[in-house]
Amino acid sequence: DPNSRRELHHVNSPLQIFVKAKKNINDIFGDISDYVVESTNFIEGLAQGHIDIVDKAETETFRGFVFKINNIREVLARDHMKVAFFGRTSNGKSSVINAMLRDKILPSGIGHTTNCFCQVEGVDGHDAYLMREGSEEKLNVTSIKQLANALCQEKLCESSLVRIFWPRERCSLLRDDVVFVDSPGVDVSQNLDDWIDNHCLNADVFVLVLNAESTMTLAEKSFFHEVSGKISKPNIFILNNRWDASASEPECQESKDALEKVKAQHQERCIDFLTKELKVSTVKEAEERVFFVSARETLQGRLQEANGLPAHTGALAEGFQSRYFEFQDFERKFEECISKSAVKTKFEQHSSRGKTIANDMRLMLDNIFERVNDLRNQKLEQKKFLTDKISTTETQLMVVTREMKMKIHNMVEEVEQKVSKALNE
Ligand code: GTP
Ligand code: MG
Repeated sequence: DPNSRRELHHVNSPLQIFVKAKKNINDIFGDISDYVVESTNFIEGLAQGHIDIVDKAETETFRGFVFKINNIREVLARDHMKVAFFGRTSNGKSSVINAMLRDKILPSGIGHTTNCFCQVEGVDGHDAYLMREGSEEKLNVTSIKQLANALCQEKLCESSLVRIFWPRERCSLLRDDVVFVDSPGVDVSQNLDDWIDNHCLNADVFVLVLNAESTMTLAEKSFFHEVSGKISKPNIFILNNRWDASASEPECQESKDALEKVKAQHQERCIDFLTKELKVSTVKEAEERVFFVSARETLQGRLQEANGLPAHTGALAEGFQSRYFEFQDFERKFEECISKSAVKTKFEQHSSRGKTIANDMRLMLDNIFERVNDLRNQKLEQKKFLTDKISTTETQLMVVTREMKMKIHNMVEEVEQKVSKALNE
């Protein structure tokens, strides 16, 4: 049953690394938020008390901590994994995304050239809609055909963005917070710099979709040179798409060696590109980043499967099974790469900011504690002769501050432990 198989894949998916880390870090910030609110209330209580220990500026700073923590939590809730697809026109970028999403979501093929950036992201509920850049208006999408037409009619600048919100319930990748970005062909644009600044800087993974029937073009190469100039060590996967078409070539049908030879040639060029030209990975890494697939066939196979038929009924040429496996292999390695990268780039920032806030708080509380201590000693001096009558408020204050100090120290330790545990996981 394809549904239960997909469910199983979902549970075992490497994307869960990100999903679980997000839940963990979210819980940790929930705890921090509770501590901070509690401490702030305590400090405000002190400020309103009879003894002059905490000044107005300090209470303000404490209130600032609450604000900062809430901000981080808001950003955290929106954090996702982002993958962007590039390549020459008609190489099959939109088809690859559709194959991964297991549905014809993005328009592809003749007359449906992608003419601006299209971002597909998950949304709760049953209805799909789209939004144009700079507009809050939700345009309903009742059918895929309508979406295709709406996108065709968009007379937008090619570097502008249309966001397509697709129900999470219809796709496990969207459910796990993967966001897909489709682009127009790299050969049609003069604004590659804008593209990178506007759409690439926060991408966790790039997929270069090539046409296996031809060689990598200069436009494709120079685009990725620019990307790796602006982003240190971008994660790049290379898909040699339309591999079914190469398999159908007469000379390849006559001898299997011919196909293998073409494959070896492409493989070498792609690996050289990643290692020697871009210098973004080692040969060993690069070997795991180059794939030979057929997006169109994979999508067809998956649509057949969804209808209860065997996947191979969607085959376009001989050798379906190995191309289908290779696509799945790509997806698995992609999922592993994107989830690890996103955890690192997104959550490392949050955890270090969280640590800084915890540290600032500890310093301030230590400071207050010292002052309380001094005050107590002063009063003790004054009241030496009344040693047995130390006011109960002072003792209480001592106890409370000591507890508070302990709590904060424990909290900082606990947070640090949790954060490093989550990051290690
Ligand atoms: P632009 O948006 O115009 O830049 O193109 P694109 O890169 O998004 O390509 P698209 O997915 O629209 O595919 C172009 C055409 O190639 C469509 O007719 C697809 O059906 C076809 N196509 C895509 N992938 C494959 C494949 O793996 N094998 C074969 N035989 N055809 C494919
Ligand atoms: Mg396209």
